Amino acid sequence: MAQQVKAVIARAKGAPVEVTTIVVPDPGPGEAVVRIQACGVCHTDLHYREGGINDEFPFLLGHEAAGIVETVGEGVTEVAPGDFVILNWRAVCGQCRACRRGRAQYCFNTHNAKQRMTLLDGTELSPALGIGAFAEKTLVAAGQCTKVDPQAEPAVAGLLGCGVMAGLGAAINTGGVGRGDSVAVIGCGGVGGAAVMGSRLAGAARIIAVDIDDRKLEKALALGATHTVNSRTTDPVEAIRELTGGNGADVVVEAVGRPETYKQAFYARDLAGTVVLVGVPTPEMTLELPLLDVFGRGGALKSSWYGDCLPSRDFPMLIDLYLQGRLDLGAFVTETIELDGVEQAFARMHEGDVLRSVVVF
Ligand code: APR
Ligand code: ZN
Ligand code: ZN
Repeated sequence: MAQQVKAVIARAKGAPVEVTTIVVPDPGPGEAVVRIQACGVCHTDLHYREGGINDEFPFLLGHEAAGIVETVGEGVTEVAPGDFVILNWRAVCGQCRACRRGRAQYCFNTHNAKQRMTLLDGTELSPALGIGAFAEKTLVAAGQCTKVDPQAEPAVAGLLGCGVMAGLGAAINTGGVGRGDSVAVIGCGGVGGAAVMGSRLAGAARIIAVDIDDRKLEKALALGATHTVNSRTTDPVEAIRELTGGNGADVVVEAVGRPETYKQAFYARDLAGTVVLVGVPTPEMTLELPLLDVFGRGGALKSSWYGDCLPSRDFPMLIDLYLQGRLDLGAFVTETIELDGVEQAFARMHEGDVLRSVVVF
C-alpha cells in the first residue's frame, strides 16, 4: 500500500522550502522503497529551489542519503529489505555505449524509479537528482541503492552519495593523483575538502589548499593539506609555484566553478600537469585563454562529474577505509539537523563555517 511520509519540498522558484506530507507508492518492478536515516544538504538542492536546474516544480529535495531498504519490487536482485545502502545518482544501465565499452563510470543512461511520488492531491513530484531523500521514505530504482557495511554512521555514509564522492573522485579517479604528487585544491568547501582528503589517501606529498576564507583553510589542514594559501590576499598561482620548486602542481583541482579560479588552476599546474574541474559553473560563464598556452603547456584539462565514480566499486571501498580509520569521512559532518532545518541550513551555507549540515531522521 502507498505510504504517507513527511518530506521537504520546493513548491515554487525562490520560495522557502516546506515540510509536507507526500505519498510514496509501493515499489514496482526494478524499484525499491528506502527508509532514509540521514541526508546531507547540498548546493544542488538550493539550485533546484532557485529554479537553476529546471522548472519542474514541485521538487522533492535531498540526494546525499543513506538508509535501509524497506521493500523491493519485482525482479530486484541487487538489494533486499534490511540492507544498509547509500543512494547514488549513477545507476549504471549496462546498455549504453559507455557501459558497453567498459567505462560504466561515464554511463549516460542512469535510471530512476518509473513511478512518481506525489503530494496528497496527486501532484507529481520531481525528486532532486532522481532521489528525493529529505523524506522519511523515498522511492528509487534499485540500482540507485549501493550496499555498504552497516557499521558506518548513516550521517557520514550518506555524504558519499554526492559532494564528498565528487571531491574524493576528482582527485583519485579523474585527476589520478598518485604517491609523491603535488596537488593544489582551489576552493575548500565540502567538495574541495574531500579532494584534499582524497589526495592524502592517494599518497600526494604536497597538498596545497587555496580558499578565500581562513576558516576553510584551517579545516583543510585538518583534512590533510600540507600548505594553505588565502587567495584573497596572496596570488595563488605564484604561491603554488613557489611551494612546488617553481614548477607548479602536478594536479590542480578546481572546486569553485568560476572562470577566474579555472584560470588560476590552469596556470598553477606544472607543464604537462592536469586540471580537474569539479566545481559547477553557471550557464552565463565563459572562459578565455590564449590557445597557445593551452597547447604549449600540454597536459590534461579534465572535468569530473560525480568524481567519475562507479558507486558499486567506490562506495563500499571508501566506507571500508572509513571504518578502518584511514579516511575521516566524519570530518565533513559539521552539524546534524532535523527535517524542518533545511531552509536554515541553506542560509548557513553562505556563512562559510559549514562543510555539511546533515538531516538525521
Ligand atoms: N577562490 C577560492 N575559493 C573560493 C572562491 C574563490 N574565488 N570563491 C569561493 N571559494 C570557496 C569558498 O570560500 C568555499 O570554501 O569555495 C568553497 C566552496 O565551498 P562550498 O560553498 O561548501 O561548496 P561545495 O559543496 O564544496 O561545492 C563546490 O562544487 O559541486 C559543486 O555546485 C558545487 O560549484 C560548487 C562546488
Ligand atoms: Zn550505461
Ligand atoms: Zn549534491
